[in-house]
Amino acid sequence: MPFPKDFLWGASSAAYQVEGAYLEDGKKESIWDHFSHEPGRIVHGETGDIACDHYHRWREDVALMKKIGLKSYRFSISWARVLPDGIGRVNEKGLQFYSDLVDALLEAGIEPMVTLYHWDLPQALYEQGGWKNPDSPKWFEAYARVVARRLSDRVKRWITFNEPQMFIGLGLQIGAMAPFEQNDEDTVLRISRHFYLAHGRAVSALRQEGKQPLMIGMAPTGDVPLPRSNSPEDVEAARKASFAVLPGAYTLGNSWWADPIFLGRFSSEAEALFGNRLPRFTREEWDMIAQPLDFYGFNVYQGAVSYPAPQDGYQEDAYQGSPKTTLDWNVTPEVMYYAPKFFYERYGKPIMITENGMAGMDWVSLDGHVHDMQRIDFLHRYLLSLGKAIEDGVPVLGYHHWSIMDNLEWSRGYDPRFGLIYVDYRTQKRTLKDSAAWYARVIQTNGENLYAHEHDE
Ligand code: BGC
Repeated sequence: MPFPKDFLWGASSAAYQVEGAYLEDGKKESIWDHFSHEPGRIVHGETGDIACDHYHRWREDVALMKKIGLKSYRFSISWARVLPDGIGRVNEKGLQFYSDLVDALLEAGIEPMVTLYHWDLPQALYEQGGWKNPDSPKWFEAYARVVARRLSDRVKRWITFNEPQMFIGLGLQIGAMAPFEQNDEDTVLRISRHFYLAHGRAVSALRQEGKQPLMIGMAPTGDVPLPRSNSPEDVEAARKASFAVLPGAYTLGNSWWADPIFLGRFSSEAEALFGNRLPRFTREEWDMIAQPLDFYGFNVYQGAVSYPAPQDGYQEDAYQGSPKTTLDWNVTPEVMYYAPKFFYERYGKPIMITENGMAGMDWVSLDGHVHDMQRIDFLHRYLLSLGKAIEDGVPVLGYHHWSIMDNLEWSRGYDPRFGLIYVDYRTQKRTLKDSAAWYARVIQTNGENLYAHEHDE
C-alpha cells in the first residue's frame, strides 16, 4: 500500500467561509466582511455574517470530524478576530476561540494545522493600503508572533499564506475577489515584494516563538497543465508549462511565488519578462524569504486550465462533454499525480496536499441522506493518482479534503457545495454526506480500500 503509516488524512476550511460571528466578541471587519456587504459582490447578496456558524457550533463540528476519523484538520485564523485593528491590541476572546478549538481537536485525536492568512485582511489595514503598504510585512510578522505564542505549544503544523495566486492575482490584479482591485504592473510587483517579505518574516517569527519544532509551509495553488501523453517530451512540455511566467498572468502561476521562496531566486523566465523591474532584495532579505520550509503545500483541483481562456471556449485537453464539477471545473485525476511529482522534482520538499475536492449538486434525499456518489468517485480517482505519485517515489505527508463542510464559496456564495458535511443554512443542521462515510473507510484502512475495486473486477 503506498500510503505511509503516519499519513495525515485530513480536511480543510477557512475562517471567513465557515465561522460567521461577524462582529462578535470584539472582532472587527476583514476585507471580505466589508466588501460582501457591498451590493453585487457576492451572488444573491450573500455574506459570511453567519456562514456555518462554526464560531458557535465548533464542538459539534469537531465531534463530526472525530466520527469521520480525521487525523488532521486545517483551518485558518481570522486576523481581525485576534487583532481587530490588524496591529496593536490583541483580542483575548478571539485567541481563546482558537485555543479551545485546538484543545478539542487534540482531544479528539485530530492534529490541528493552522493557516495564518486565508484572504481575510483586517479592513483597518486595508484602509492603510493593505499589501501595498511597505509596513505590511511587519504587520504580518507581528500577527504571526501573537498566534504562535498562544498556539504553538499544541499546534505543530503551520501555513503562512493560502494561495497568493488568488488573493493577489484575482484580488489585486484582476479584481475578481476582495478587495476587487485592478492594479497596474508596478503596483503588483510592489505587492509581490511585500508578500515575499511577509512570508519570510512570518516564518522567522514562527521559528522564534515556536514552543516545539514547527513544520512550516505555504498553500499555493496554480496551473498544472497535463501532458497529452506520458511520452517524455509531453511530460517535459507539461512541466515547463507548469512553471511558466506568463505576461499578464504570472501571478496565477506557480513559479512566480514558489521560486523565490523555495529556491531563493526568480526564474529565468521572470528575469526575462521583467529584467530590473523585478523586486530586489538584500542578501539578508533573500535569506529570510528563502529560509527552509518543511513541506510544499498545494491546493489542487483540476489540471489543464489555461490562461487566458482559448478562443474556441474549450480548455486545453478537455473535450466536448468531458466530466466537470458544478463550477465547470475539469475532473482530471491525473493532476494529482503530476502536480506532486513536478513540485517535488523542482523544489525537493515533501508534498502536503492542503486542499482538493469538488462542488456538487448535493441535497438531502427523501431518506434523509446526502448521496453524493460523484464526490466519492472524484475522491477515489484523485486518491489513486496520489497513491501512484507516492509509489513513484514522491514523499507525500498528507491529504486534506476541501472542505470539511459546505461553506461560503467566496463571490459565488452558498450554492456550490464542497463539503463532506452538508449544511442546511436555514437551520444550521449538519448531515454527514455519503462521501464522509466513504472517506472514513479510507482513513480507517489507511487507503487500502481504494484498491478494493481492482479485486472486484
Ligand atoms: C480556496 C478555498 C476555496 C476553494 C474552492 C481554494 O481556491 O483556498 O477557499 O473555497 O479553492 O474554490
